[in-house]
Amino acid sequence: MNKIFTKNIEHESAKKHVTGKAIYTDDIAEPTNLLHAAIGYSNCSKGIIKKIDLKDVFQSEGVIDIITDKDIKGINDVGPIFKGDKIFTSKNIEYYGQPIFAVIATSNILAKKASLKAKVLVQELKPILTIKEAIKKKSYVLKPRFLNKGDAKNNLKKSKNILSGDLYSGGQDHFYLEGQIAMTVPQEDDNFLVYSSTQHPSETQQIIAKVLNQDFNSIHVVVRRIGGGFGGKETQSFLFAAIASIASKKLNKPIKLRLDRDDDMIMTGKRHDFYFKYKVGFSDKGKINALKILMASRCGISADLSGAINDRAIYHIDNAYFIPNIEIESYRCKTNTVSNTAFRGFGGPQGMFCIENILENISQKLNKDSCEIRKLNFYNNIRNETHYGMKITDNVITDIFNQLIKKSKYYKRKKDIEKFNSKNKILKKGISITPVKFGISFTTTHLNQAGALVHIYTDGSIHLNHGGIEMGQGLMTKLAQITSHELGLNYDSIKITSTDTEKVPNTSASAASATTDLNGGAIINAVSKIKSNLNKFIYDYYNAKSIIKYKNDHVYFNKRKISFKDLISKAYLNRVSLSSSGFFKTSKLDIDTKTLKGRPFLYFTYGAAVSEVIIDTLTGENKLHQVDIIHDVGNSINKRIDKGQIEGGFIQGLGWLTTEEISWNSDGVLQTHSPSTYKIPTSGETPFKLNVEIYKNGYNKEEVINRSKAVGEPPFMLAISSFIAIKDAIYNTNKNRDSSLLIAPATPENILNSIN
Ligand code: MTE
Ligand code: HPA
Ligand code: MOS
Repeated sequence: MNKIFTKNIEHESAKKHVTGKAIYTDDIAEPTNLLHAAIGYSNCSKGIIKKIDLKDVFQSEGVIDIITDKDIKGINDVGPIFKGDKIFTSKNIEYYGQPIFAVIATSNILAKKASLKAKVLVQELKPILTIKEAIKKKSYVLKPRFLNKGDAKNNLKKSKNILSGDLYSGGQDHFYLEGQIAMTVPQEDDNFLVYSSTQHPSETQQIIAKVLNQDFNSIHVVVRRIGGGFGGKETQSFLFAAIASIASKKLNKPIKLRLDRDDDMIMTGKRHDFYFKYKVGFSDKGKINALKILMASRCGISADLSGAINDRAIYHIDNAYFIPNIEIESYRCKTNTVSNTAFRGFGGPQGMFCIENILENISQKLNKDSCEIRKLNFYNNIRNETHYGMKITDNVITDIFNQLIKKSKYYKRKKDIEKFNSKNKILKKGISITPVKFGISFTTTHLNQAGALVHIYTDGSIHLNHGGIEMGQGLMTKLAQITSHELGLNYDSIKITSTDTEKVPNTSASAASATTDLNGGAIINAVSKIKSNLNKFIYDYYNAKSIIKYKNDHVYFNKRKISFKDLISKAYLNRVSLSSSGFFKTSKLDIDTKTLKGRPFLYFTYGAAVSEVIIDTLTGENKLHQVDIIHDVGNSINKRIDKGQIEGGFIQGLGWLTTEEISWNSDGVLQTHSPSTYKIPTSGETPFKLNVEIYKNGYNKEEVINRSKAVGEPPFMLAISSFIAIKDAIYNTNKNRDSSLLIAPATPENILNSIN
C-alpha cells in the first residue's frame, strides 16, 4: 500500500490548463483537406415551412456543399432514449434554433456567413412556451408520474397548520468554456474517426451509426478531455457530431463543426425550469405532517433525458427531511423551445429548492428560527424511510449541521444581524443554513456499469484506459491514483490515455457524479486480473510461500524484494499476460420503474452551508458576505480536487439562483445568448469569505473505493442556502413580511418585485 490518497496530488492537467498546452478537440492537428460546417436554423418557434431558398448560400464565398435531411441515409433523429430529436427539419418548425440545413465551406467563418443567407419562408403558428400554458393544454413530452406515501389528503385535514403556495425556479445555461464541437475524419471502407466534445462517447458512436445507417463497429469515437460539460454534453453533443458525420460521409472529407457562443446557447437545451404548487400541513412546532406537491417542468420540444430528470426531482423533494405523508404529481411539459437536458444535479436541485422554500415559509409563518425547524424535520434513526421506500442508513446530516452551526457561529451572527437590521433602514441582512442529501447512482439502474483496459508494457510502465470522460472534475487524476494504489506504483508511472470506444466499449455517460466509483471499480477489476496472473507466476517461478505485496514500486514475498520492473520483464519472458480488461457494476440497486419505489441509490452524499447576505431594498442588489460549508466526501481520494468541486459547485449553484436568467420573448425567441445578456457569476459574486471544510468524519458505509464518496454534483445544492438567506433578508425588511413571492433567480429585479 502506498499513501497515494493522502497526497492531494494536483490535477493531472493543471499545468497544461494554465499554459494552454492541454489539447481540446479544436486543438487537434487539422487534416490538410479539412472543411468546416455551420448550421442554418429556424428564426421562429413554430410554423410550417413553405419554401427553403438556399441559392445565395450556395453562391457564398468558400461554399462547397449544403447538407439537408435528404442526405441522411439512416434515421433523422439523435434522440437518446426516445426518438423526437430531429437533425434537420424540412416541413415543420417546432422551436427557435431548430436546424434546417448545414453548409460546408473552406473555413468556419465563411460557413457561418453563408448560413445566414438562407431564405426560409415560414407560415408562423402560435407556440406553446410556458409551463402553465403546457399544463392547460395537456402538452407533455412524457406521461405524468405520481408517487404517494401514507395519506396526505386526510393528514392535511388533520393538521393544525396549513400553508399553500407556489414556487418557481429558473433554467440555466451550461456555459462550459469549450462550446459544442466535433471533428470527423473518414477512414477506409466508410468508417469514421470522430473527435467530439461529449460526456458520452458510446452513445455518440451508436447514434452516428444509426444516422449513417452503418454498424456500430464502423464508428470510432475518441475524447481526451472536454472543456466542461456539466450535463450539457451528456446528449446535446450528439446533434453536432451527427451533422459533421453526415457531411464527412457525403463529401468523403474531414469536417469540423464548431459553434460560436451565441449559436451554442440558442441551439442547445438548458436546465429545466420548474413550477411547484404545494400544500403543507404542520404542527405548531413546525414538524411536517403531510405534503401535497404538484411539480411541472419545461422540457422543451422532446423527451431527451427529461424522464430521468423529473424522476430525480421527485426523489429529492424530501432533501434531508422525513415527510410522513406525501402526494406528488409530476408533469413533464412539452413546449416549443429547445429541448432541456441534464445539468449538474439533474432535477435534484429543483426538488430540494422546493422543500427548502416550503420550510422557510413555515418558519416565517410560525415566526420561528428556520434552523430549528429544519433540525426538527431531519431523518433520524426511527424516521428513516424515504417516500420511495428506501431506508436511510448512512445519515450524518445532524452531525454536519451541529458542527457547522458551531463553526459558523450561526446563532451569534443571527443576533448581530438582528441588531444590524434594527439600525439600518435600507440595507438589510439575512442568514440561512440549509442541508444537502444527494442520492448517488444513475436512477436508470442499468447505466450503473463501467469498463476499463489496463496494459503493463515490458518496461513496467502502465497504460490506463476506461470509459470515463475528463471534463475538468479531476476524474483522470483520481483514476490514475487508484491504479497507482492497486499496483503499489509511483503515480507518475501511470499513463492516462484518451477515452476511446475501440478500447472500452458500451460505456455509460460520465454523469450522475458516479464516474470515479464506476470506472475506478472497473480498473480495480482489470488490475486484479493482471495481478492474479503475476501472483501465479511469482508462486511458480520464485517459489513464493508468503502472501505477495505490491508497494513502493516493488513486490514483496518470502522476505524478498524485487523491483516491479524486473518482475515484469521476467514475467514477459515467461509468457505471462500483462494486459486485461475490467468490468464493474453497482450492487444493491433495485427499483420498480412503474412505481418509482425501491432503492435507486447506493448511498447519499451530505453537506450543509450557511450563507449571510445583504440586500439593498432600494435597488434589489445583493451581496454574499460569508459562506461556511462543511461537505461530506467520505474518506477522500483527493481532498484538493474535492475542494475544487465543492467551491466550483457552490458558485455554479449561486449563479443558477441569483444571477443567471434565461429569457425568451413572447414569440419564443431566446433573448439571452451571450455573456452580455446572460450573467454567470464572476469573482464579483463570490462571497467575501468562503470557508470550505471537508467533513472530518467522512466515511462511506458502502464499499466504495477508499470509502470515498462522489462529489461532482452535491455541492451545487449548497447554494440554496444563499437564496434562502435572501428570503430571510426580505422577511427582515419588515416584521412578518411574507417572502414567499421571491422566485429564482433572485435577481435585483425579482428581489424588488417581492418587496413591493
Ligand atoms: N466539474 C468540472 N470542472 N466540469 C464539469 O463539466 N460536471 C459536473 C461535475 N463537476 C463538471 C464538474 C457534473 S454535471 C457531473 S455529473 C460530474 O462532475 C461528472 O463527473 P464525476 O462523475 O466524475 O463526478
Ligand atoms: N443522472 C445523470 N444522468 C442520467 C441519470 C442520472 O440519474 N439517469 C440517466 N442519465
Ligand atoms: Mo451531470 S448533470 O449528471 O452530467
